[in-house]
Amino acid sequence: MSKYIIKGGNKIEGKLNIRGAKNAILPIMAATILNESVSIIHNVPDISDVHFMIKILESIGCKVSYSDGTLIVDSSFADQVEIEECYVRKMRSSIIIMGAMIGRFDYTKISYPGGCAIGSRPIDLHLKALKELGIRIEEDEGFIKCYKDNLEGNIINFEFPSVGATENAILAAVKATGITKIYNAAREPEIEDLQNFLNKMGAKVKGAGTNYIEIEGVRKLRKVEHDVIPDRIAIGTYMIASALTSGKLEVDNVVISHMEPISDKLRSAGCEIEYKNGGLLLKPPSKIKSIDLVRTSPHPGFPTDMQAQLMTFMTLSDGISVFHETIFENRFMHCAELSRLGANIKYITENICMIKGVEKLRSAKVKSPDLRGGAALVLAALTIPQETEISNIYHIERGYENIENILRGLGADVLKIEEI
Ligand code: EPU
Repeated sequence: MSKYIIKGGNKIEGKLNIRGAKNAILPIMAATILNESVSIIHNVPDISDVHFMIKILESIGCKVSYSDGTLIVDSSFADQVEIEECYVRKMRSSIIIMGAMIGRFDYTKISYPGGCAIGSRPIDLHLKALKELGIRIEEDEGFIKCYKDNLEGNIINFEFPSVGATENAILAAVKATGITKIYNAAREPEIEDLQNFLNKMGAKVKGAGTNYIEIEGVRKLRKVEHDVIPDRIAIGTYMIASALTSGKLEVDNVVISHMEPISDKLRSAGCEIEYKNGGLLLKPPSKIKSIDLVRTSPHPGFPTDMQAQLMTFMTLSDGISVFHETIFENRFMHCAELSRLGANIKYITENICMIKGVEKLRSAKVKSPDLRGGAALVLAALTIPQETEISNIYHIERGYENIENILRGLGADVLKIEEI
């Protein structure tokens, strides 16, 4: 098990240029199955989730290469229709491959993903959407068998705007006959990026980024080249690193509308944020102000994927902040670890907690509970002058490319100890 040793207290400042969004590239990689041709994708982050998805694509017969941020997938000869259980069990988000698989093949079999650390995460909405499109689904001993008896456009009305279910519905509808209308679709920017990728390969998808998406099915798709959107969550995480350590941060490439739900909260905490020349400049607060209420919600609300990192920010604020996690039922696991570092956090209910700012945090040995919770611990450690040891960093490496080198480049004292 590898770990980070962080000796905090240095300012995190300078220029940041990071690669594309994890949550955009994963569904895009699933979409490469559909064109039966070559997909060239740039700005792909070197993270373990991407490497895992590469393994899945290779397991069904795709030829894949990845070098220096460019991913090339040739799905021409893909012919394996069953996704092995170990893959779906290990990476829950691999379930987004289901829509693309049934768009391409007459049959596919995939394991039930099961729960994960942050919540039970059922897939009922994914399955309901596929059924609306005419896919026959049999659930059998932990597996989902999908039969393409008749893939036909239809109306899909989501009772909750699930990101993954919206993506699976789009992926399956791209090659359906007729028109699919998705109401109450998730509006996350990553879904818009999926739409843009699909349209470049000849699909007819419109409306992504709003809660109504329309897809006109097409028969044939073609070769595609695409650049993945910047990772708003990784950028937001580094912004907090600078804000916490009184550093100034310049980010090269941002999409303002993607950043605003995060920037808005950072401004409330006293940061100054200026957008210019396609990038962003963050100036840290002289004193961190508490934020009365942080409630996570689907985009354009405050993202659940930034909740843990913002909580670390608030542990050093000048007052009381209340956090309400509304998306996942078990996404407060970082609270216990932050408390070990001296944070003052009290649970009100399972999904609401209260943070009273303290003057400083103190070092301890902590464990990453999950991806974003792990990032929150890294942020906390950056403020502590003594050494803090963070283990279970494989969680962090799922979604942050080379975080130790990036932080070092911005002034941090971070050591990664590889243990096999
Ligand atoms: N849900 C259901 N039934 C479903 C699908 C979802 O009840 O069929 C529930 C989930 O249990 C959860 C809520 O709906 O409580 C939201 O789930 P959603 O489907 O929107 O999330 P997801 O597609 O599983 C993606 C991201 C997550 C991010 C969420 C919310 C990817 C690969 N993952 O997950 O990213 O938190 O959307 O924005 O896109 C992360 O990056 O750390 C991460 C967890």
